[in-house]
Amino acid sequence: MKKIIYFILIIIMVSGLTGCGKNDVLKRVEKNKVIVMGTNAAFPPFEYREGEEILGFDVEIANKIAEKLGVELKIEDMQFKGLIPALQAGKIDFIAAGMSINEERAKNVDFSDGYYEASQVIITMKDNTEIQGPEDLKNKKIGVQLGTTGDEEASKIEGAEIIKFDTGFMAIRDLQNGKIDAVILDSEPAKKFVEGNEDIQILPNELTKEYYAIAVPKENEEFLEIVNSVLEEMKESGEYDRLIEKYFE
Ligand code: ARG
Repeated sequence: MKKIIYFILIIIMVSGLTGCGKNDVLKRVEKNKVIVMGTNAAFPPFEYREGEEILGFDVEIANKIAEKLGVELKIEDMQFKGLIPALQAGKIDFIAAGMSINEERAKNVDFSDGYYEASQVIITMKDNTEIQGPEDLKNKKIGVQLGTTGDEEASKIEGAEIIKFDTGFMAIRDLQNGKIDAVILDSEPAKKFVEGNEDIQILPNELTKEYYAIAVPKENEEFLEIVNSVLEEMKESGEYDRLIEKYFE
């Protein structure tokens, strides 16, 4: 009997020490007085680096979430593919990374309401007359950002060789160097990259329609509601439209 009681006591102590059990964002935020946004800051205009700073549309939303909770915002910049594991491990409190809602991800995280409608587009060299649309991508070398919906979309193309890069920017560079035939990327970052590069173009046919949302760990309903209320308030106050104007034209 005594042994069992000791055993139970040890379990309680260990789980108390490691904080094992629930990945409770609001509790953590209250204790640390800071909320941690996870992102991959190579995705303009949603998140990008300017010198030491990380700026963008998603950062502005994140700031509103921190403001609502009355705490400071900290940003962790990491590989896109590492974001969901970091969220599950409690290393970050939410993901704001132009992350598209999809079923596979929804098994591991909860998504807020969608805050932006996006699509995957094809980028090619302007002098490439062979690739006119999605059907011409068969058996081609296609660059994508690792772990993105663009990566997923590319893997459906028959006979294509998929080259996975850490950032969309690196894929564009290899396109310009003639190492790959096309890049599949989200529409808005694609526009930003094409703006600064005369030699590349976006093809008119879009491959998908998807919605960006904030991702939070599972079983954080109250926090998720706060995130949704922030999005709602930003739309109602005109703040959302102001941001669209600031970042997209
Ligand atoms: N929307 C795409 C996805 O969810 C790409 C997002 C990439 N975001 C980034 N910050 N690099 O898979």
